[in-house]
Amino acid sequence: MKDKITKDTLESWLDNVRPYAHDGKVADYIPALSQQNPDDLSAAIYYLDDDCIHAGEVETCFTLQSISKVIALALALMDNGEEYVFNRVGMEPTGDPFHSIYRLEQYRPSKPLNPMINAGALAVSNMIHGDNPAEKVGRLLSFIHEMTDDHSIGVNEEVAASEFQSAYLNRSLLYYLKQHDVINGSVEETLDVYTKQCSIDVNVKQLSRIGALFANEGRDIKSGRRIISKHFARICKTFMVTCGMYDASGAFAIKIGVPAKSGVSGGVMASLNGFGGIAVYGPALDEKGNSVVGTKLLEILSNRYDLSIF
Ligand code: DON
Repeated sequence: MKDKITKDTLESWLDNVRPYAHDGKVADYIPALSQQNPDDLSAAIYYLDDDCIHAGEVETCFTLQSISKVIALALALMDNGEEYVFNRVGMEPTGDPFHSIYRLEQYRPSKPLNPMINAGALAVSNMIHGDNPAEKVGRLLSFIHEMTDDHSIGVNEEVAASEFQSAYLNRSLLYYLKQHDVINGSVEETLDVYTKQCSIDVNVKQLSRIGALFANEGRDIKSGRRIISKHFARICKTFMVTCGMYDASGAFAIKIGVPAKSGVSGGVMASLNGFGGIAVYGPALDEKGNSVVGTKLLEILSNRYDLSIF
C-alpha cells in the first residue's frame, strides 16, 4: 500500500497548482462549456479503505465529457462481450487529436482505432443496449448510480443540448461509421446518447469513487460487491494508460505513469491499483484538451508519492 496523502497536503498542493490555470483556456467549441469559470479548482482522493479526502470547491459539478468513455466502454463490454466490441473498435493509440477523422479513411476495414477517441466512443455508445436513446442513457446512469451509490447524478440537459446542436464533427464521424457498418440504427439517436453520456454531471468526490472502483478491480469500495469484472476493469485502465490523455498519453505515462482519463470540461479521473481513485477538476485546458491544473497536480502527486505504475 502506498503512503496516504493527507487532506492538508492535498489542500496545499492545490494552492500550488492554482496559478497554472492561466496557462490554459476553457473549451468553447461546445458553447455551454465556455460558461465555466477557469479558476474553479477541486480535487478528491478516494482510498481503497473507503477514506475520501478532498480540497477546493468540491461541490462544484462538471460534465464527464470524455471521462464517460471509460464508463460507457465498461457497460458496452458487459452488454456485448469483448469479441463483439473489439470487432468494431480497435485497441491501438492514435497519436491524433480526439476528434480526428483521418485514420478512419486510412485503414480497411474502416474501424475506429480505440474507444477513447470520439470515433471509437461514438461506436461504443451505439453498442449500449436499450430500445431507444432514453433507455440507453437511463442504463448508463443506473450503472453510474450503482458505482457511486448516489442516485442524484443526472444529465446536464443544457450542456447536452448545446453539444447536440453544435456537434457537426461528431455527426460526420457517425455518418462515416454508418456508411461502413460500424454502427447500427440512427445517427441522430446515437449522437443523442453520446452527448447525454458526455453531459452527466458529477463532482470530484463522486468521480474519485468511480476511479477507486476501477482501482479496486471492479468492486464497490464500501460493500465489496462486484460491479465490473476484474478483466473488463483492467481493459478500461489499460486504455486509460495508452489513450486516456489522447495525443499526450505518452508524455503523461512518462511524467505521471497513472491510468487516467480527461474530459474537455476540465475533469480528470485517475485510477491506481493498490491506492484508489483521484479526481481533479480545473476547466482551463492545454492545447490537447487536457486540464492544465489537473495534469500538474497529478504530476506533483505522482512524483512526491511515487505513484507511477512503471
Ligand atoms: O465529443 C466531444 O467533443 C466531447 N463531448 C468530449 C470530448 C472530450 O472530452 C475530449 N477530452 N479531452
